[in-house]
Amino acid sequence: MTKILVADPDPRSQQDLQQLLGQRGFQLDAVTSVANALPPVADGEVDLVLCDLGLPGGGGMKLLQEIQALHPETAVVLLSAFGSVQDAVAAMQQGAADFLGKPFTPEQVLVAVDRALEKTALQRENQALKTALDDRLRLDNVVGTDPRMQAIFKTVKAVASTRTTVLITGESGTGKTLLARALHSLSTRKHGPFVEVNCGALPESLLESELFGHQKGSFTGAVRDKIGKFEAAAGGTIFLDEIGTSSPGFQVKLLRVLQDRVIERVGDTRTIPVDVRVVLATNKDLELAVRKGEFREDLYYRIQVVSIEMPPLRQRASDVQALAEHFLRRFAAEHGRGPLQFTDRALAALLAAPWPGNVRQLENVIERAVVLCQGPTIDLADLPAALHTAAATRPAADPLPPDAPPGPLKAALAGPEKRLIEQALAHCGGNREQAAKVLGINRSTLFHKLRKFGIH
Ligand SMILES: Nc1ncnc2c1ncn2[C@@H]1O[C@H](COP(=O)(O)OP(=O)(O)O)[C@@H](O)[C@H]1O
Ligand SMILES: [Mg+2]
Repeated sequence: MTKILVADPDPRSQQDLQQLLGQRGFQLDAVTSVANALPPVADGEVDLVLCDLGLPGGGGMKLLQEIQALHPETAVVLLSAFGSVQDAVAAMQQGAADFLGKPFTPEQVLVAVDRALEKTALQRENQALKTALDDRLRLDNVVGTDPRMQAIFKTVKAVASTRTTVLITGESGTGKTLLARALHSLSTRKHGPFVEVNCGALPESLLESELFGHQKGSFTGAVRDKIGKFEAAAGGTIFLDEIGTSSPGFQVKLLRVLQDRVIERVGDTRTIPVDVRVVLATNKDLELAVRKGEFREDLYYRIQVVSIEMPPLRQRASDVQALAEHFLRRFAAEHGRGPLQFTDRALAALLAAPWPGNVRQLENVIERAVVLCQGPTIDLADLPAALHTAAATRPAADPLPPDAPPGPLKAALAGPEKRLIEQALAHCGGNREQAAKVLGINRSTLFHKLRKFGIH
């Protein structure tokens, strides 16, 4: 039931409002000061507050501000016997749903109440929709609308709260590290440490002492006891990056930790239990590495329990736009720029680019463009030259043979045109709107051509 709080010190107007709104079936409550109005609002019990501007204890504007801070979904209609236009404007600017001058007619009150309630209901609904959409499309701060990314988000959510070992594979720059962090921040271990180790960067002996720690004097340079990253990550997550290039000796030791959940410091025979979630990443094809004898098969099966493959950016056309806009907003804010937009040409170039460096490359391209661009739009000139040619040379990727016999132009061009459209559709995962952008034509032209060439 809709609950309205009448906050008015004047007994006469209290009574009028209670009677009028009571008849309409609203649940009512009355208070005569700012202090008394706040507890029910804070509890989220109240849908609407009718509040006199001269309310004792700070006034109606103060109550409005408090409500905005405490419970912004609660609507506020301000009432005043001496209200000026300025008061009304100020109240609306502060977020009041309406402003009524006293004396008011019953009709005026009812209209204002209905409108205010309708507005908050809409706001709530929008908020709920927006949250649902955000949850579906996002995981922490990982952007991904592509169906393969959505499936990955589902997996991550499902395994986040377990201690299962997770392997993330994919080309460099596809978001492996970001995903590992998201996995940690969604887990029950989120308040514990997230410790990152690049296993490809260190020689075996150093890596071992880095991960497992060492006892003083166990090798030259070990001047004091040192705890390793596994112990440092206790209660949290350890992220072992570039696992594919680690040495055979290290692989044996890692297998032991994963199986027994214990470590031994270098130079020490005691075993120390460790409570860590292990996430590993590699940009190598581990199956191939196993076949070539570069990666231990038993370790491969041990870390393969849950494995996530990050698709390269060129295979997720719908993400290019979502990511580009995400980075645009972020860098515009970081560099103190106002809202920025891509021109159609610039967006088409971004969509057509092959992105060998994946999301990392796109991120760099957008930051550079934000720094370079002069006005509120990002145009082709703000993008690296390599990207202009990606867009411009796309048609030339399917050239006519130089010695083709002469014939009607239209017929000669129909073949390559059809193939280009098919390529663009494939590139965009069948998304026609994006394919049209890549091709630099509008949607209706594309639909016309699809019909003409019988492409479905
Ligand atoms: N899906 C994504 N949403 C938002 N940012 C991303 C996404 N994927 C990658 N990034 C960003 O791109 C950059 C490269 O990602 P990273 O996780 O370091 O890739 P990898 O570890 O696979 O080389 C990082 O700055 C990261 O924040
Ligand atoms: Mg990484």
